[in-house]
Amino acid sequence: MVDYAAVYGQWQQAPEAYWAECAKLIDWDVPPTKIFEPASGPYGAWFPGAMLNTSFNCLDRHVKAGHGARVALIWDSPMEGRLEHITYSQALARVEKIAGALAALGVTKGDRVVGYMPMVPEAAFTMLACARLGAIHSMVFGGFAAPELAARINDAKPKVIVAASCGLEPGRVVAYKPILDMAIGLSTHKPSACLIFQRNAARATMVAGLDHDFIEAEAAAAPHAPVSVLATDPLYILYTSGTTGRPKGVVRDNGGHAVALNATVEMVFGVKPGEVLWAAADVGWAVGHSYIVYAPLLAGVTAVMYEGKPVGTPDAGAFWRVAAQHKVKTLFTAPTALRAIKQQDPEGKLIANYDISGCQALFLAGERCDPPTAIWIQELLQKPVIDNWWQTETGWPITARFLGLGLTAFKPGSGGRPCPGYDVHALDDAGELLAPGTIGNLSIKLPLPPGCGPTLWENEQGYRNAYLNSFPGWYRTGDAGMVDEDGDVWVMGRTDDVINVAGHRLSTGTMEEVLAGHIDVAECAVIAKADALKGEIPFGLVVLKAGCNRDPLDVQRELVALVREKIGPVAAFKDALVVPRLPKTRSGKILRATMRKIANGEVVAVPATIEDPAVLEQITAAFAGR
Ligand code: COA
Ligand code: AMP
Repeated sequence: MVDYAAVYGQWQQAPEAYWAECAKLIDWDVPPTKIFEPASGPYGAWFPGAMLNTSFNCLDRHVKAGHGARVALIWDSPMEGRLEHITYSQALARVEKIAGALAALGVTKGDRVVGYMPMVPEAAFTMLACARLGAIHSMVFGGFAAPELAARINDAKPKVIVAASCGLEPGRVVAYKPILDMAIGLSTHKPSACLIFQRNAARATMVAGLDHDFIEAEAAAAPHAPVSVLATDPLYILYTSGTTGRPKGVVRDNGGHAVALNATVEMVFGVKPGEVLWAAADVGWAVGHSYIVYAPLLAGVTAVMYEGKPVGTPDAGAFWRVAAQHKVKTLFTAPTALRAIKQQDPEGKLIANYDISGCQALFLAGERCDPPTAIWIQELLQKPVIDNWWQTETGWPITARFLGLGLTAFKPGSGGRPCPGYDVHALDDAGELLAPGTIGNLSIKLPLPPGCGPTLWENEQGYRNAYLNSFPGWYRTGDAGMVDEDGDVWVMGRTDDVINVAGHRLSTGTMEEVLAGHIDVAECAVIAKADALKGEIPFGLVVLKAGCNRDPLDVQRELVALVREKIGPVAAFKDALVVPRLPKTRSGKILRATMRKIANGEVVAVPATIEDPAVLEQITAAFAGR
């Protein structure tokens, strides 16, 4: 077997030759003649001038190669009690017609389509149908509330929105359509049409002249052929949290994305065509885009789409049931899901009920896997447990272990070695390289490899400001961590106000904006509190306006409801505390890190810059009094 060091070395010595080889595994309408153009965009462009269609590469080419009967997607929904196996031929037939339905609504190359969909095959087909037309999809996670959806509609300006009538959460039906209607009401940009996928659990009331039934439109449509696009044309926009209230629209291009994702399936995840890859994530997040939809289908493997939870659907054995039943070769999830399983089945007894001998490894991403959880599951499974570090911006792992390259050593707490394509270092705040083992700003030497977001939607300057301007020649990830003596990368936390709640990336700044909007709040701070299940949860500290003598508990309840209404249940904002004052430096900066330590019961040294040390005592007393 080729080994990791050899392949990483090949890439280091001749990066363009490395990517030119990977590009040969993609079907191009106009093959690349130039691999990289450094002068385009914020840091360059991959495969400029080459042309392809991503949906053709995901579907048509496998059918043309005689694999139409192979299963492309297994939809397993304990929420609906349904199981479907959809072959590559069937998926192609549906995507051709859904593309036709979108085209009939006026969608053409370059138009945006926003998707607000739960975990149903139609979500994946909508993405692929957009790709077929050269249109740009932007999927929005169902746990976001109307104002967040509206912000994305305003930024992406979709011609059409595709939504389901509802999502299914344990114990409740989330009616998406009223949220969509409210979002369209809030947004200044209005779509010209909506395609509504009706689910029986909550059928949507249709708006005459705007809404069209998804299934009827699909049935009436003529199949649409793939539209050839430039490798550098956008495939999708995926919004993620940044440090400002405005979500960042990470753009993904077509060519680099296809080349890079296709290359990872066997090299990183060790899955070959015809085998099964299951990413237990949501299509609304980057992992879902890449490893439920695009990467498996590009590589001709079978993807699993699971509409359920790690626990409660019906029990903590759900993951092992799915892995056994569908002969999953590689399982990929977030550490928070394992912690949920561990809480309910600490000895892993339910694993023994299923034959998961065919499952070769467990991949974890979305947040740092805490060593106790990693060790717990590794001892139970006796299989490689592989932490891999990435971001919405990169779209595929920056670091990992490599099943296809024989590098699987278990090193709990570490995110693994850089994937070929990434040169990762820790830098100090002046941008100087740090010695191995020293924590700093994890940064990637430019250019980023193919598949990484080349820019932000209609905000190239925002991209430069957020990622490139701090350290010239480097992409700043926003994560703090180190590279150890072995070359393994350790990701320890964020350097900004982004927090990671149950593997979901959220901005405390956005939550602070919501709290500050409450009529009784004078000032506030949202900090990350450690949580045994979700890793981190947001926690609000608020100072009431002078003269406000309302019961603090009432205000706290209203604040929790307000964040749910403005951002959504996904924020998991469940607690706030009214305090007399917030600790600040003499220059007026709120000491969030100090409050976080107090909230987490850590020992706090009084910062030298503090304006009034007595405030810390008040905060400590307020936490102690709960
Ligand atoms: N649509 C609507 N609401 C949603 C939703 C969706 N797609 N997904 C989650 N929510 C809601 C939940 O119902 C919950 O609502 P509640 O406050 O009424 O209980 C809230 O958002 C928070 O959800 P979540 O963070 O998922 O917490 P949970 O307590 O329901 O479940 C876990 C905890 C650990 C089981 C769950 O977070 C999980 O499976 N996480 C894995 C995350 C993951 O795969 N991330 C991908 C990154 S790789
Ligand atoms: P997202 O863009 O939602 O995928 O979130 C990306 C962020 O999640 C990263 O910048 C990290 O802070 C965190 N993250 C993702 N994967 C890991 C990992 N394996 N280890 C540590 N942090 C991670």
